Amino acid sequence: MKEIKVESIFHVYDSLEELSSDIKILMINAIEARKSAYAPYSKFKVGAALRLDNGEIVIGSNQENASYPSGLCAERTAIYYAGAKYPNAKIQVMAITAASQNQKTTNPIPPCGACRQAISEYEVKQEAPIEIYFMGEEGKVIKSNSLANLLPLVFDKSAL
Ligand code: THU
Repeated sequence: MKEIKVESIFHVYDSLEELSSDIKILMINAIEARKSAYAPYSKFKVGAALRLDNGEIVIGSNQENASYPSGLCAERTAIYYAGAKYPNAKIQVMAITAASQNQKTTNPIPPCGACRQAISEYEVKQEAPIEIYFMGEEGKVIKSNSLANLLPLVFDKSAL
């Protein structure tokens, strides 16, 4: 038996104001996208914005359903939209923001496990990392240099 150690490094920004202007603009797009969330059941609205290598910004928000599992998270709405509209473009950065209607969300909200797996597929497909920035409604922003950082020991096509 031997032990393996997997380390992830994240960068924490005090607020939106500490981000570079292009990332701040992307996060503002995510905040705007959050307004289009359809979240009557959870009352938890999430917005995501992607910057592609063709200069386009693609957004997504969570879309819920009375049959709960049929809804989709903001991150997957955004990446599948990007994959459908710009199939050859690479995703460079994803910005995510979440806000609850029940309480002020001040902690950065990371993508859920299912979204990590889905985003990972695009990182593998494009053979380039996707930077991920995530925040709540206000407060700190966390940056991960890649999705792989958020999903160690990933399942990918190499296993098939
Ligand atoms: N949600 C997202 O959009 N992204 C995540 O990474 C976590 C959860 C959505 C799904 C659901 O509409 C609501 O937030 C509550 O789970």
